[in-house]
Amino acid sequence: MKNMRPSDYSLALEDRGMGIPLMFIHGYPLNRNIWKRQWEDLADLVHVIAPDLRGHGESVLAANEARNFYPFSMELLADDCVHVLDILKITQPVILCGLSMGGYISFALYRKYPDRVAGLILAATRSNADSPDARINRQNAVDLVRSSGVQSIVDSMLPRMLAPKTFAENPRLVQQVQDIMLSSTVEGIIGDSLGMKDRPDSTGLLSGIHLPTLILLGAEDQFISTREAEGMHAAIQDSRLVVMPDAGHLLNMEKPELFNHEIRGFINSFFGGKQ
Ligand code: MLT
Repeated sequence: MKNMRPSDYSLALEDRGMGIPLMFIHGYPLNRNIWKRQWEDLADLVHVIAPDLRGHGESVLAANEARNFYPFSMELLADDCVHVLDILKITQPVILCGLSMGGYISFALYRKYPDRVAGLILAATRSNADSPDARINRQNAVDLVRSSGVQSIVDSMLPRMLAPKTFAENPRLVQQVQDIMLSSTVEGIIGDSLGMKDRPDSTGLLSGIHLPTLILLGAEDQFISTREAEGMHAAIQDSRLVVMPDAGHLLNMEKPELFNHEIRGFINSFFGGKQ
């Protein structure tokens, strides 16, 4: 684990392995530890970079600093990711693997810094903006975390983060996900929620993506529909879509072998393994 300090917060990240850089961007309200099975298994093939986004995990916001940055726009979080690459002196284009909000950030990063991106792995994510109802729910989440704290958000989301079967039968994984969610801060949850609420629709970007792209979705995802993943697959030329049975929103934690197998195949097909 490394720590680096942009101006307004101290940022923790996992930085291991050698080969083409692959940056894993976590979702909301999570942290880099969701990628543990990926960095353990894939660091022999790629250079894994997995930051804790601001307000999550071991990334620490300077006192009172978060308010100055509300909302944490997807563009701001993409800037943070590029800042990490700059500090690591990675100038070659990288593969981005974004889960859910991490996917929204990947689109923002590609939109602003297309030359920094070599390929996309879009896991449990969507290209469209929030619907009016989803925007109301974001504001409700902000109000809830302000009044009742992080636990209230965890209680409202945890059962939907995993496939129903995983949730019922794998208490260790449920506990692990709960611990990860609980390490989010109130500031991180507010910043992300307001940022996601106002994020632009990235659907128009899709037909212009001419990069190797892998789209992964759990068949039991309770946040992202198969229709949304199929829509991205249809719009991104030559993309591959894999819908994983018995997996929910956190498919990389629920089905790590299959998830990693798909990534390995993707890297070997398009990037020739180690570079
Ligand atoms: C995530 O996992 O990042 C969130 O579910 C995304 C969202 O709320 O849109």
